[in-house]
Amino acid sequence: MLQEHTEVCLQEPYGDSPYRLLGLRAPGIAARAAPGQFVHLRIPELHDAVLRRPFSIFRTDGERLDLLYKPVGRGTEAMRRLEPGSIADLLGPLGNGFPSPSGDRRTLLAGGGYGGAALYRLAERAPAPGDVFLGGRTDRELVAAREFEQLGWTVHTATEDGSAGRKGLVTDLLRDALESGSAASSEIFACGPIGMMRAVAGLAAASACPAWVSLDRTMACGVGACQTCVIRVVDTTRPEGWRWARCCREGPVFEAQDVLW
Ligand code: FES
Repeated sequence: MLQEHTEVCLQEPYGDSPYRLLGLRAPGIAARAAPGQFVHLRIPELHDAVLRRPFSIFRTDGERLDLLYKPVGRGTEAMRRLEPGSIADLLGPLGNGFPSPSGDRRTLLAGGGYGGAALYRLAERAPAPGDVFLGGRTDRELVAAREFEQLGWTVHTATEDGSAGRKGLVTDLLRDALESGSAASSEIFACGPIGMMRAVAGLAAASACPAWVSLDRTMACGVGACQTCVIRVVDTTRPEGWRWARCCREGPVFEAQDVLW
């Protein structure tokens, strides 16, 4: 884990989506970050109890890493005001990311909303392109579809309002793919809202398909000290059969079958 004082080098809308891109010059973190790991950003304007904000790493390009964010609250609105040339304090890479796709199974990626951003670097490093399932409330919330296509992945989309792809949930698409017979030869990597991750885990269990899910939890410290991010995971060595796990240290990526929902 490194702490870098990073220079903002990109601040712009992400297409016509509600998201924005923040590019940071952070050579040490960019070089070490594995797919699915995250960074904790201290926003200079915020000096109160809110310590840092966690963000998945979307892309890395040499010394730069790009974060995708949606300005919806005080912290992310303050992020929008970070101009190129300003300095921000960044901690990372943090947590345990996704394991590498095995290469002998078809890789299925499932992203809900900006969860798609956390899967992009996994797609870049996968041994071969597979299928990516992207979902959002509207077509404007489908993240990185074009980028996945440029890597040669087959993109399937679902929107809740039907404005792009199939009307419904991204897990509807994933269910169809698994039921079409590919479950036994596939593996799933997913990132999105907690309800979606629970649904992915259920689909994976029902079809005996290996799956890894990245859990989005409130994280105050990001380094294992505050316990705000705990979840219950299976632990057969304990009489009760479970233990607490910190999403910021043991996660954010867990094998789906290990999580007690
Ligand atoms: Fe503090 Fe995980 S965010 S322990």
